[in-house]
Amino acid sequence: MTYKLVENTIGISEKKALKKLISEEKQLTYSSNVKKLENKIAKIHKRKYCIMVNSGSSANLLGISSAIYSKNIKINKNDEVIVPTLSWSTTYAPLIQYGLKLRFVDIKISTLNIDEDLIEKAITKKTKAIFCVNILGKCCNYDKIIKIAKRNNLYLFEDNCESFGSIHKNRISGTFGLFSSLSSYFSHHINTIEGGYLLTDNFELYCNALSIRSHGWIREQPKNSHLLKSKINNHIKQFRFFLPGYNLRPTEISATIGLIQLKRIDKFLKNRRYNAKFFYNLFKNENFVSQEYNKDDSFFGFTIIIKNKLYPNLLEIIKQINKKKIETRPIISGNILKNKMLKYAKYSVYKNPRNAEFIEKFGFMIGNRSTILNKNEKEKLMELSNILNSYS
Ligand SMILES: Cc1ncc(COP(=O)(O)O)c(C=O)c1O
Repeated sequence: MTYKLVENTIGISEKKALKKLISEEKQLTYSSNVKKLENKIAKIHKRKYCIMVNSGSSANLLGISSAIYSKNIKINKNDEVIVPTLSWSTTYAPLIQYGLKLRFVDIKISTLNIDEDLIEKAITKKTKAIFCVNILGKCCNYDKIIKIAKRNNLYLFEDNCESFGSIHKNRISGTFGLFSSLSSYFSHHINTIEGGYLLTDNFELYCNALSIRSHGWIREQPKNSHLLKSKINNHIKQFRFFLPGYNLRPTEISATIGLIQLKRIDKFLKNRRYNAKFFYNLFKNENFVSQEYNKDDSFFGFTIIIKNKLYPNLLEIIKQINKKKIETRPIISGNILKNKMLKYAKYSVYKNPRNAEFIEKFGFMIGNRSTILNKNEKEKLMELSNILNSYS
């Protein structure tokens, strides 16, 4: 048996629902199930609007492009956005593509989230927004970050693709940004094979997003949308493009799976939290640190960072772990500043990003799952613990 990074959560109920969907020969491109899922996701997050797209990456792209084309949201090419030194490539890609400047701020080793104590010092005259990323099931320190954003007149965007259901001081993630993104890629908390969601309470951003998701057309605009100001006859209206859009649409197939997964999400989160207790009880070793434990996190996976003195043993340790059939990977993708995609970016780095570098050099992660760890999986984690303890 292998302890995998990811376990598939699509089960019998999802398969039954899919069979029914296909046999009814209904429309499979986005339709009523997408709408239903959007409404449910908006409700869970107590947000006015949710737009489903085909991935979390698309949700970030949709959020940024919709903000750029909003008149009332003042963010434009060459403005600066504060970003953490640890995240997935597609947190940054839309900023680069829209000519925004990245202003990197290092992460904290304890939380792996952006170091809130550095943000204010990193702000320049050009800074317009902070793009927070909730890493691996843990919310950023929004208490402080919201105050910093208000004090400095900055927008707050939230990438919540890794942290569905995590809670910061009684407030669920996905509710902190002017827009917030979610992902339901198959390794995430809910699995629709591929899928993403843009959440916002801002009407203008919502109208833009509806248009940009679908080629830039105005077909789906609500009555009082700013995009419907000019008079167009109904014949041509279906085929007018007001914004330079994409096709980021999901399918009914993903939404059908998503509706079942949402019925199971409370159980998934409970199981992830149960597994986390098991993991954190097992891993008490002064030579290793994990992301700080908080019972309200949604525990995407478990990180292990080796303290300095054991280096250069990282690869040796990983080899031993993999030999025991336990899959490992770097923490997200390590130090984002090491990635060649940045040659296409305008960016600056506030201070030495030594923590991102540290986790790249000394860190790795293993998976969590949405089911309770079974006996074999627990044994695997104990084997992992034994390996780590052998370095004490
Ligand atoms: C922080 C973060 N943002 C965005 C994404 C992109 O999500 P997707 O894989 O659904 O495109 C990921 C992917 O895992 C992620 O970790």
